Amino acid sequence: MLYPLLRPALFALDPERAHRLTIAALKRQPRRAAPRHSAVLEVEIAGLRFPNPLGIAAGFDKDAEVPDALLGLGFGFVEVGSITPLPQAGNPRPRLFRLAAERSVINRMGFNNGGARAAAQRLVLRRGRGGIVGVNIGANKDSGDRVADYAIMAAMAAPIASYIAVNISSPNTPGLRALQDESQLADLLDAVLAARGGAATPVFLKVAPDLQPADIDAIARIASDKALGALIVANTTVERPAGIQRHGEEAGGLSGALLKSLALQRLRDFRVATGGAIPLIGVGGIARAEDAWERIRAGASLVQLYSAMVYEGPGLPRRIVRGIERLMRRDGFSSIAEAVGSE
Ligand code: FNR
Repeated sequence: MLYPLLRPALFALDPERAHRLTIAALKRQPRRAAPRHSAVLEVEIAGLRFPNPLGIAAGFDKDAEVPDALLGLGFGFVEVGSITPLPQAGNPRPRLFRLAAERSVINRMGFNNGGARAAAQRLVLRRGRGGIVGVNIGANKDSGDRVADYAIMAAMAAPIASYIAVNISSPNTPGLRALQDESQLADLLDAVLAARGGAATPVFLKVAPDLQPADIDAIARIASDKALGALIVANTTVERPAGIQRHGEEAGGLSGALLKSLALQRLRDFRVATGGAIPLIGVGGIARAEDAWERIRAGASLVQLYSAMVYEGPGLPRRIVRGIERLMRRDGFSSIAEAVGSE
């Protein structure tokens, strides 16, 4: 309830500084319990039971500093990262821009993070607290062997992550998105799957929204061949819709309301391409319960958001989760699974 009052002060600050303050505030939160399971909202995919279908997307908690505080806000799951093997500074600042008139964000952070070792230590310390915490993995910009970086990260994450999200869709590491190409993707996924050792940690793949129909078919086929746990659709876009008031010319990935229709379309495309055989996680421009519900009806078993937190604040996850339950009842569904792809 306080957020509308606080927001002008936060928006007067540089966006990255505002984000650091947000993380610091979350660190000081008294510990609240992770969301309870409710028979209505619970979702089971990839052998994991999610208490509700709304997660916080990667990039918000890059260094796994506040997963429990985020669960305490009502998110059904948290995806930390992207984390790379070695710490890296990311791109020069400024690299994060609010498109407030459009309720959107442009970022070219470039995988700034404290590296695998620091994140792993934090995740080991919280082990046993419960809650679903996925680890989103990336490659260092200067790495001579990016596939090896993903394998290192998978080995690190497998024993401590609820799931591993392979992020090959950030537009801010030059050449990274080429790993989505058919010729490279199967080898990359083989390396990641093998690197888990004995652990059966499910592997999810996060894709860009900027894909051609042939790419979508190839990714869907490979995801199915490799029995991936889920596809996360989608990362930020390099497209720029017309009419952006400020910052539209900045390089980087666009997220928030301006990504919504593209992300929804890609989700539908992947639903068709996979024939429902691989669970989908819908992300991009979700800001209200209606958006989440539309994504579920279009084929998402789970949804995630990031940008809307900037504009709506920490009360948002609980509002959306309550809203989803209301919309389910309105439309006569008694479980999320029943509603997935029912549009
Ligand atoms: C992101 N996103 C992102 N994704 C990822 O896989 N690894 C990352 O490190 C980041 N970093 C990141 C930073 C910032 C500042 C933003 C805004 C976004 C992408 C994010 O997880 C999500 O896919 C998109 O932002 C689309 O969702 P929203 O923001 O429209 O809800």
